[in-house]
Amino acid sequence: MTHRIASIPGDGIGVDVTISARTVLDTAAEKYGFSLAWTEFDWSCERYTKTGAMMPDDGVAQLSGFDGILLGAVGFPGVADHISLWGLLIPLRRAFRQYVNLRPVRLLPGTSSVLAGRKADELEMVIVRENSEGEYSAIGGRHNTGQPDEFVVQEAVFTRVGVERIIRYAFELARTRERHVTSATKSNGLIHSMPYWDEIFAEVAAQYPDVRAEQCHVDALAARMVQAPDRIDVVVASNLFGDILSDLAAAITGGLGMAPSGNINPSGEFPSMFEAVHGSAPDIAGQGIANPVAQILAGAMLLDHLGETVAAQAIRASVDEVLTTGATLTPDLGGTATTTALAAAVAASLR
Ligand code: NAD
Ligand code: IPM
Ligand code: MN
Repeated sequence: MTHRIASIPGDGIGVDVTISARTVLDTAAEKYGFSLAWTEFDWSCERYTKTGAMMPDDGVAQLSGFDGILLGAVGFPGVADHISLWGLLIPLRRAFRQYVNLRPVRLLPGTSSVLAGRKADELEMVIVRENSEGEYSAIGGRHNTGQPDEFVVQEAVFTRVGVERIIRYAFELARTRERHVTSATKSNGLIHSMPYWDEIFAEVAAQYPDVRAEQCHVDALAARMVQAPDRIDVVVASNLFGDILSDLAAAITGGLGMAPSGNINPSGEFPSMFEAVHGSAPDIAGQGIANPVAQILAGAMLLDHLGETVAAQAIRASVDEVLTTGATLTPDLGGTATTTALAAAVAASLR
């Protein structure tokens, strides 16, 4: 079996961690009897600087035939973030109807949480982030430019279809786990969007009497994530809330270098896209010291998506083993190893 995979390393450490993740994925493929046919795309801020575009006009069409996409990270100083991200990552998520952004985290063995007294595997949760609408919207604009009364408007969009399908996805997922969904809301401050979100949450929850449904204002949920993370199983959140909560979830379980994510098109009509939660980290780019674990685990999510679940599980087990041994850790984990050395240790453990 051959899976055709598009690789978009992107910018900064996205390039290093993607090369490393590919090594691990290829090792898993060899061991478990399938192959990955990679096609690499140089779409990035560097490309923007040379050509004026992050990707070609027919970029979406070029990717649409692939079985999956592995993306590094997008964004680098010199190109404004709203240009680079709305020129590549966000249009891909939308064109491919990847309306679920799945962000599982667990406290990996051998790493100690910043939350004192927590042990490995005691912290485990998944954030189901709405990935196609919400606060991320291009509707709005700048008005009275240059005048004393200059202002901007940034609209949020919450559709019934969009809200309902993400909440339903969270409940279905909860049925495979601890049967507990927490909805991140802010219906005390936002007068239209979040009361609507809550209303639909209650409607969907009523159809899942076997799942405990709870809503929590996102500010209080952020505190709970730190103080009582064991009271969280599945979080369902709007685009922006889910974005913020997922960096927090990463931080309490080992750091940004450890958290994977999947932009999922549940119907399978279009390819899904896998990436780390973290960005291109310009502050450490080019030093070869980025932690590749998040991207390796994103690669494992890609394999799960392709149906290669045994290989995916083996990668997670190898990551656990390398982290537990502790001999090959990158600086963010307190070690001195390079990106490639950590990935090579995972690949060696796989073999
Ligand atoms: P970031 O996640 O890139 O970095 C935040 C901090 O975490 C930095 O100190 C960085 O060094 C550290 N860090 C992140 N990943 C790490 C890893 N694997 N190993 C070790 N340390 C790691 O967030 P930022 O600084 O806000 O954003 C930098 C750029 O990345 C911006 O252009 C932003 O728009 C972009 N970004 C892209 C994506 C994406 O493509 N999916 C996601 C987030 C941010
Ligand atoms: C993420 C990132 C992106 C997001 C940015 C870079 C647009 O932070 O994937 O978490 O907010 O979706
Ligand atoms: Mn983010």
